Amino acid sequence: MLADGEFDKALVGDGIEVWVTQMGAYMNMNTAFIDRENEIVVIVDPFDSVRWTDALAQEGLNPTHLLYTHTHRDHVAGYSSMIELNPDVEVWGHEDARVPDLINHVVFENVDFDRTWKNAPNTSVEWEAGSISLMVTHSPGHAPGHVTIHGHGVYHAGDLLFTNGMGRVDLPGSSPRDQWSSIRHAKNILKSLPEDWRLIPGHRYDWIDGTTPDWVRIGDALSYNYALNDPSLG
Ligand SMILES: [Fe+2]
Repeated sequence: MLADGEFDKALVGDGIEVWVTQMGAYMNMNTAFIDRENEIVVIVDPFDSVRWTDALAQEGLNPTHLLYTHTHRDHVAGYSSMIELNPDVEVWGHEDARVPDLINHVVFENVDFDRTWKNAPNTSVEWEAGSISLMVTHSPGHAPGHVTIHGHGVYHAGDLLFTNGMGRVDLPGSSPRDQWSSIRHAKNILKSLPEDWRLIPGHRYDWIDGTTPDWVRIGDALSYNYALNDPSLG
């Protein structure tokens, strides 16, 4: 189990490094994809910009891209200082995550995306930088413009799915109906991926056996996650 701010660093067979950490009181999970040859560092939902920037600098790396699963305050906590520390970083999110009508609500925080995805719910677009290739799936329900991001051995679920459950649908902008549609679609994606890929949740919560793993195998999530096994999904 990762300590707060501890990094797990894995080299995927295709030469891309994947770093995973958990940070903060809500145990937010962050994932980074690193292509050293092309000096590209893509971070999903960085929580603490100083710790991320320092850890990367120790290895001669700088963040180049930030990808946001959604714009809830805890997921974009690192945004402001990250762009101060790394002014050239390119910031991405889904167009619907701009939430102009909800941005003043306490659960959201503004992010000035440089670029946005505009794909319809339950469709995916490919996102590439250097040798990094990710699929970004629009998965609304927990929050408008929520996306999941998968590639290079991981499925970063954001708050769509946790190891054993799913994200809240009682917040401003939430839609239980959209969430279940997104869960149904996610299940199909997960079934198409290798079972031993890691499902990285947006937060680290309890697993079925009372332990609190940082991630679970996709095969185990498909077998035991209660949302993915809801009878209504058929
Ligand atoms: Fe959230």
